[in-house]
Amino acid sequence: MAKMEVKTSLLDNMIGVGDMVLLEPLNEETFINNLKKRFDHNEIYTYIGSVVISVNPYRSLPIYSPEKVEDYRNRNFYELSPHIFALSDEAYRSLRDQDKDQCILITGESGAGKTEASKLVMSYVAAVCGKGAEVNQVKEQLLQSNPVLEAFGNAKTVRNDNSSRFGKYMDIEFDFKGDPLGGVISNYLLEKSRVVKQPRGERNFHVFYQLLSGASEELLNKLTLERDFSRYNYLSLDSAKVNGVDDAANFRTVRNAMQIVGFMDHEAESVLEVVAAVLKLGNIEFKPESRVNGLDESKIKDKNELKEICELTGIDQSVLERAFSFRTVEAKQEKVSTTLNVAQAYYARDALAKNLYSRLFSWLVNRINESIKAQTKVRKKVMGVLDIYGFEIFENADNSFEQFIINYCNEKLQQIFIELTLKEEQEEYIREGIEWTHIDYFNNAIICDLIENNTNGILAMLDEECLRPGTVTDETFLEKLNQVCATHQHFESRMSKSSRFLNDTSLPHSCFRIQHYAGKVLYQVEGFVDKNNDLLYRDLSQAMWKASHTLIKSLFPEGNPAKINLKRPPTAGSQFKASVATLMKNLQTKNPNYIRCIKPNDKKAAHIFNEALVCHQIRYLGLLENVRVRRAGYAFRQAYEPCLERYKMLCKQTWPHWKGPARAGVEVLFNELEIPVEEYSFGRSKIFIRNPRTLFKLEDLRKQRLEDLATLIQKIYRGWKCRTHFLLMRKSQIVIAAWYRRYAQQKRYQQIKSSALVIQSYIRGWKARKILRELKHQKRCEEAATTIAAYWHGTQARRELSRLKEEARNKHAIAVIWAYWLGSKVRREYRKFFRANAGKKIYEFTLQRIVQKYFLEMKNKMPSLSPIDKNWPSRPYLFLDSTHKELKRIFHLWRCKKYRDQFTDQQKLIYEEKLEASELFKDKKALYPSSVGQPFQGAYLEINKNPKYKKLKDAIEEKIIIAEVVNKINRANGKSTSRIFLLTNNNLLLADQKSGQIKSEVPLVDVTKVSMSSQNDGFFAIHLKEGSEAASKGDFLFSSDHLIEMATKLYRTTLSQTKQKLSIEISDEFLVQFRQDKVCVKFIQGNQKNGSVPTCKRKNNRLLEVAVP
Ligand SMILES: Nc1ncnc2c1ncn2[C@@H]1O[C@H](COP(=O)(O)OP(=O)(O)O)[C@@H](O)[C@H]1O
Ligand SMILES: [Mg+2]
Repeated sequence: MAKMEVKTSLLDNMIGVGDMVLLEPLNEETFINNLKKRFDHNEIYTYIGSVVISVNPYRSLPIYSPEKVEDYRNRNFYELSPHIFALSDEAYRSLRDQDKDQCILITGESGAGKTEASKLVMSYVAAVCGKGAEVNQVKEQLLQSNPVLEAFGNAKTVRNDNSSRFGKYMDIEFDFKGDPLGGVISNYLLEKSRVVKQPRGERNFHVFYQLLSGASEELLNKLTLERDFSRYNYLSLDSAKVNGVDDAANFRTVRNAMQIVGFMDHEAESVLEVVAAVLKLGNIEFKPESRVNGLDESKIKDKNELKEICELTGIDQSVLERAFSFRTVEAKQEKVSTTLNVAQAYYARDALAKNLYSRLFSWLVNRINESIKAQTKVRKKVMGVLDIYGFEIFENADNSFEQFIINYCNEKLQQIFIELTLKEEQEEYIREGIEWTHIDYFNNAIICDLIENNTNGILAMLDEECLRPGTVTDETFLEKLNQVCATHQHFESRMSKSSRFLNDTSLPHSCFRIQHYAGKVLYQVEGFVDKNNDLLYRDLSQAMWKASHTLIKSLFPEGNPAKINLKRPPTAGSQFKASVATLMKNLQTKNPNYIRCIKPNDKKAAHIFNEALVCHQIRYLGLLENVRVRRAGYAFRQAYEPCLERYKMLCKQTWPHWKGPARAGVEVLFNELEIPVEEYSFGRSKIFIRNPRTLFKLEDLRKQRLEDLATLIQKIYRGWKCRTHFLLMRKSQIVIAAWYRRYAQQKRYQQIKSSALVIQSYIRGWKARKILRELKHQKRCEEAATTIAAYWHGTQARRELSRLKEEARNKHAIAVIWAYWLGSKVRREYRKFFRANAGKKIYEFTLQRIVQKYFLEMKNKMPSLSPIDKNWPSRPYLFLDSTHKELKRIFHLWRCKKYRDQFTDQQKLIYEEKLEASELFKDKKALYPSSVGQPFQGAYLEINKNPKYKKLKDAIEEKIIIAEVVNKINRANGKSTSRIFLLTNNNLLLADQKSGQIKSEVPLVDVTKVSMSSQNDGFFAIHLKEGSEAASKGDFLFSSDHLIEMATKLYRTTLSQTKQKLSIEISDEFLVQFRQDKVCVKFIQGNQKNGSVPTCKRKNNRLLEVAVP
């Protein structure tokens, strides 16, 4: 759903007043009450014009969700209730759209919520600025730099569990589109004294505790550390654990953040090694040892710790040990070594620890800067976020050099605040062409001057004192101050004029008091000189430089003997002054946005609003002054368009629409409302309202008018609704009526129409029938006339026809009679010639003609030339019967001859054999017909080709006529054995089928007869001549598949060789000579038991039975 554009204002649903400028009456009490009221309603933010006051809620409020970010995104500053996001959005948009570099100055007491506020600003800007992988990485690195710096720079204090112990200014750089490119962080004065000593109830920097609780055993071993906090002198034990803080988890977060920011693993390790070294330094203890010359000298009590430090850092143990016992002073090419006493040794140890740690911290900042610095050289827009320590006032004159420096910084910030706020305000009036009389305000420049003046400022005095030869103590410094600053109206000490004048005897001796813009602060001079000197004995820095640990070496460049510099390094005070000056210069070039943080109680507790505490902060933050400054001019200003838009309903001329310039509209409006002219002023683009009361009056009128308008709108809406309803009803009624009428008319029309049709059809029917009747009558009349005419014509015609027929009959009769008469007359004349010759001639001619016709027809009806074709045309005339038969015979002979003429000699031979077989067996042996179709091959067994029979072949010289395997029937039992049957021109041979060995040889002359049955079987007997050599074993009984062929060939061969016809006996019972016996072979019709194969069985001595199926 599209978000409804609701014109809202800061002034809607306001709790107290959202902008203190509107507070009426304005005094401290009302100011605090307003803050309290809002605080009680969870409204922790309140404006003074464009400055945001933030009261620390000490609990998480649901006002930083992504939805809230969306709410505040691209909205006008005063459109929604006060919020830090509104300020961030305003700053980001004017950076992006108007190309103005911004700075966000966050000030307030320690624990007031500055660091949280700076994180909120950064996260808001990260959420609304450009997106994309690269941009997101930049954002992530910028945001992740926080946990790293907090681990090393924050500590638990009595005021804040996560107090920043350094000042931080971060420039976020953007490109022209408003996408972040990178950033630069500057750090200011880390409170390094905390490394060696912490006030009661406070802790050292978080990182020490995080390392000891979060590191793995392995890492601890590597760093030669123990998990036990109590082992380390530098760690205060009374608050080692902080409620709700998980040091171990934070350690992981920090390591992860370091990785994201871009620390290499070895870098992160080096950093932890330095931290470990600092921690272990605290455990080095010294004992006094008297020397011969009577001077005290210090000695290290237990060298174990020193050894471990040296191993960790790669420093030669003896070098470090010496550095803790001696101090070398160089002056004009002279080196003087003096021994250190125990106190000096401890001082040297602590100085080393502090320096090591603070230099590590600066290194970390630089390293982070390296990672997050913008990669491009394009012009950048910058948004600076300043989160710096707030005013710090300890009771009982516990304020020392650090507080002095911190308060100086705040003094400078207040100065820039006053300057920029008033300047901006004044510039706006001038820009808008408003008459402006200068407003006087307290300018704290005089205090700044007291501190930073180059010739007689406190810092200059301190430096001078530190550099002065001779004995220098904190007391001599105070004396100097008393001399130089005694007359200054913001400086007080026991000796100064003003104190004497004020007669303030409460001032302790070694103290001085400065009347800061935020209140009087009593400083204890003790430690000022030392801290300003920030002295590290050269022997120590040289020892550090000699370390093989690259990080430590790089932290002490001045330890390099080659670069020895006899000039003193700048003091801490002058360094800080210089960096603050740079910061101020930087801030002045930017458009400032202020967030002033207030701490509601000292207990870090939610819901408690300590009025006295808040009152104090309001005073020193100068907030009332701020409101007054703002109100001295005009309390409220607004561009003409939104102003007219908001209040136009208050005047008839401008409501509902004003045509013309917005300014004229506002003028008309204000005239109409009779607002006194001194209450407002017209700028070029804005209306300026002097008094908040006027604005509230306007608001009240508007509220009243809105109610009236709402009623009016309600009235009009109700009227409109009823009227539309009525109109709709009326319209509907008309539509319904119209539709009904139409329907009724339609119905009636349909009725009339159908009636008319009925009547019409009746009339038409009647008319048609009438015509039909008439037509029918007419037609009948016509038909009658035609019939009569036809009958008449018919009669006429028949009468004529009969007359004509009569006539024709008469004519024909005449012709017939004439012809008969003529015929008989001719016959009578020619009879004698005809009978003698004509009869014979006609007969011959007719006969000739018939014969000719017969032959011609026969020619066309000739059958095929096949000798077996039985067809012959039928005989046409009986008298041609014999001719016809003779003709058939001649034709058959002729075509047989034709057929024979085609044969080759071989074919002729085969046919001769076939003919012979036919003569021998046709109609005698039942086997014969099946042999007709088989060609006679003779040599079935190819002896020549089979090497098995080579011997057999060699034994035979004559031509082989038959070579075939036959079954030789054993005459003793009727069983059969295979034999090769060979027939040559002169002999008959039997050989073994397997070996090819000749078993018997019979000359053809000795063959007398062949016997066989008349049936369909292949049994045959070969009878031999009695008394011949071959006949000694008896006759042969064979069975063969080619009986007909074999018998025929045997017959023919015998005939051609012996010129004798071989007798062939065909009988179903014949005798065979077996040696001496004659056995009868009998053929019977066998049963089907043995299939279609004939079987042979010896029945008895005299009988061999062959069963033929
Ligand atoms: N806007 C806030 N919402 C909730 N808690 C806050 C908020 N601001 C500060 N706090 C709480 O106050 C504590 C101190 O805030 P911090 O910003 O560290 O103070 P400062 O930096 O001013 O010393 C934080 O740890 C947090 O618990
Ligand atoms: Mg802080």
